[in-house]
Amino acid sequence: MQNSLRPLNFNEFIGQKKLKKTLKVIIESSIKRKKQLDHILFYGRPGLGKTSLAKIISNKIKTKIRYAQGPLLEKKSDILTLFCSIQKGDLIFIDEIHGINKKVEEIFYSALEDNIIDVFIGPEGDQKLIRMKLPKFTLIGATTLFSKMTQPFKDRFGFIGKFSNYTKKDIEKIIKNSSKKLKIKIDKESIEKIALYSRNIPRIANNLLKRSWDFAVVDNCEEIIIKIVNKTFKNIGLYQNGLNDTHINYLKNLYINFNEKYVSLNLILGFLNEEKNNIEKEIEPILIIQNLIIKNSNGRKITKKGIEYLTNYIS
Ligand SMILES: Nc1ncnc2c1ncn2[C@@H]1O[C@H](COP(=O)(O)OP(=O)(O)OP(=O)(O)O)[C@@H](O)[C@H]1O
Ligand SMILES: [Mg+2]
Repeated sequence: MQNSLRPLNFNEFIGQKKLKKTLKVIIESSIKRKKQLDHILFYGRPGLGKTSLAKIISNKIKTKIRYAQGPLLEKKSDILTLFCSIQKGDLIFIDEIHGINKKVEEIFYSALEDNIIDVFIGPEGDQKLIRMKLPKFTLIGATTLFSKMTQPFKDRFGFIGKFSNYTKKDIEKIIKNSSKKLKIKIDKESIEKIALYSRNIPRIANNLLKRSWDFAVVDNCEEIIIKIVNKTFKNIGLYQNGLNDTHINYLKNLYINFNEKYVSLNLILGFLNEEKNNIEKEIEPILIIQNLIIKNSNGRKITKKGIEYLTNYIS
């Protein structure tokens, strides 16, 4: 189901105008010059469309895409296996590319720059250097953690594309297009509400559309109307602007226990049944983006907007 909503070409891929424009030029130029497309690196938060855009590029240059996962490229032999199977003109997509083991990442440097890899083989003390020439290929890397990549690795990509945030209009368009593809009827008010609760992330918007449709179907409703959307959100525990119970719990704790004072993460941990990593990576970023908390060297504290949120939306 998810895949049926994947945009297949640049027209279907909504928003990210600048990124799309640059990519179109890079692709067209490589086709005109009959040269292999340069290596490309995408970075941005989960669900913003990195994999989709890689797939669109593969459609455009009429080359099948081969997928690999960065965290699974752990040993030298994993990378050699990948490179040994490359055929001329191949397009390789490595997801979560920051996850490649740093100890073996160096093999990529010469592979990307000069299409060669040097490997030592044989028993210790009697090792031979073997130089392998690789066919021309294009690597598309995607990462949600750009800062975890080393500079020399980043430098090997001819183009680095950062995904910007989607606007509410973009997300509404995505919901509209998805509902057409899935043959779902939905009114304007419902589209707007789903967009508002999607935190401007296309994947979440599509998922919320599908969940609302489930509720409409079960209620024998032929169209998604606001009553259905509200019921869906209530059921899956989604609050104003797409926050969930965990976010609300964090906000409430910050307000009730510490009022408007700055507080350290360790102190917060004493009140919440959450892992440190989860708080820093999953809960806080969303609250910071929505300006409901502030986080700096003094710690974190709830903002006026955060207090208003609790007062207005949480009973
Ligand atoms: N610009 C867009 N226009 C239309 N639909 C989009 C767009 N971006 C993403 N989507 C939708 O969101 C879904 C998720 O996108 P995708 O899998 O490409 O994200 P991603 O950035 O690769 O995420 P992750 O980092 O989790 O791998 C797609 O299947 C597609 O339905
Ligand atoms: Mg992806």
